Amino acid sequence: MLKVEHLKAGYGGMPVVHDACFEVKEGQIVGLIGSNGAGKTTALKAVTGIAKPLGGTITYEGQVISGKKANDVVKLGISMVPEGRHLFGKMSVKDNIMMGAYLIKDKERKEKRLQLVYEMFPRVKERLKQTAATLSGGEQQMVAIARGLMAEPKLLILDEPSLGLSPKLVGEIFEFVKKIKELGITVIIVEQNVNVTLEISDYAYVIQNGETVFGGTGQEMLANEDVKKAYLGL
Ligand SMILES: Nc1ncnc2c1ncn2[C@@H]1O[C@H](COP(=O)(O)OP(=O)(O)OP(=O)(O)O)[C@@H](O)[C@H]1O
Ligand SMILES: [Mg+2]
Repeated sequence: MLKVEHLKAGYGGMPVVHDACFEVKEGQIVGLIGSNGAGKTTALKAVTGIAKPLGGTITYEGQVISGKKANDVVKLGISMVPEGRHLFGKMSVKDNIMMGAYLIKDKERKEKRLQLVYEMFPRVKERLKQTAATLSGGEQQMVAIARGLMAEPKLLILDEPSLGLSPKLVGEIFEFVKKIKELGITVIIVEQNVNVTLEISDYAYVIQNGETVFGGTGQEMLANEDVKKAYLGL
């Protein structure tokens, strides 16, 4: 579904991602792990058209999408839930969620999607009129994911969805990720919670200093003592 080959990306013409390679098959959950500043977010921003790729190739459903504008990437069915959530604090929860559907004109389709999101996040549904800034961290993350789902993605990218959440909520977020997969949506997840990520991922990659240094199933990674010690901090 998505193939990233030798991706180079950065800011102001300076690469921070030097050689990222990863592949995502339809229906999978693919995990990206790696230490702070490794370039995970930047690589995904290049995929979604937020950062300009400086080299390499990004192919999605057989089409090269490197350098496409963010809007066009969303139209192709790729949606990203950004690190740090980026909600509009003064806007209501409902308005924040609806922002995700800004490219969908058909009212019925929007309404149907909204019902699906409410079903998935009943706690969000209880707080539609509240401003986003007044939500708890966990609730904000749910709204951010709900907004991402409103775009009707085929591929949903979650950048550190469990950041700053209590262990119980971390578990909940991972349960949501599994449900999203069950809906038939392919998922890329960036995470610091290595163990849980490897548990739910069909395949995972380690990114270090802007390069993919290892790829394998969770089991393969955990069986590799060098990878465990050097990259996973286990
Ligand atoms: N807008 C920006 N302008 C300049 N440099 C940036 C910008 N955003 C990120 N960087 C730099 O790019 C490098 C990679 O950052 P990136 O956010 O991609 O890492 P990451 O792997 O997602 O890290 P984390 O786990 O902390 O989120 C870092 O050194 C960071 O300082
Ligand atoms: Mg990041």
